[in-house]
Amino acid sequence: MKTCKILTHNDEIIIPDFVQILNQGLDEIEDLYKGNQIKKARRIDVGNIISNLNNKDKRFVGHFTDDYLDGILIEKQDEAYTDTNDIGWLVAKEKGKGIGSKLLLDCIERTKQRNQKFLALGVSRYNEKAIDFYKKHGFEFDIDYDEGNMLLFYKNLEGEKLK
Ligand SMILES: CC(C)(COP(=O)(O)OP(=O)(O)OC[C@H]1O[C@@H](n2cnc3c(N)ncnc32)[C@H](O)[C@@H]1OP(=O)(O)O)[C@@H](O)C(=O)NCCC(=O)NCCS
Repeated sequence: MKTCKILTHNDEIIIPDFVQILNQGLDEIEDLYKGNQIKKARRIDVGNIISNLNNKDKRFVGHFTDDYLDGILIEKQDEAYTDTNDIGWLVAKEKGKGIGSKLLLDCIERTKQRNQKFLALGVSRYNEKAIDFYKKHGFEFDIDYDEGNMLLFYKNLEGEKLK
């Protein structure tokens, strides 16, 4: 059975696995990132996640196949944009098996339930596979930042076009 779940203090035992999947993803795409996003993400460790499990502005979501953690998503609330939920990181332990899509659809559903209108994420300009993946899921390019190295993508959950 495949499920997605927001981690709580009851899940502390699997947080090392969560960090391991995040780091595996960072290893896979490190060469595609020119700015400091990867360095920032490398600072996310077990202690950091545990201390943020009750943080109302951050959620650590796991994808489980038969109770086995095989995908992770980190979402956060940007203080300035209350109508937007932001995906920090998304990593599927094995690619092309629907894990990323399931985590993304779960995140979209949660964002709607939170009455937020947009889902946003930043992705390296050079991470073509991830860009294809997000476009297939209806995300639209908005602006670039970090000297053009990063692209901001939005999904309007009310089905409206941004431009
Ligand atoms: C991007 C990512 C989360 C997608 O998750 P996934 O579980 O492989 O995706 P799904 O199986 O749900 O969907 C497959 C689609 O993802 C895309 N994809 C992205 N990377 C892929 C890969 N390495 N292998 C196969 N498909 C990949 C393809 O477009 C594929 O579409 P298709 O089914 O029409 O061929 C995953 O590839 C990943 O962990 N990448 C490394 C980390 C990363 O780049 N994260 C995003 C940073 S913002």
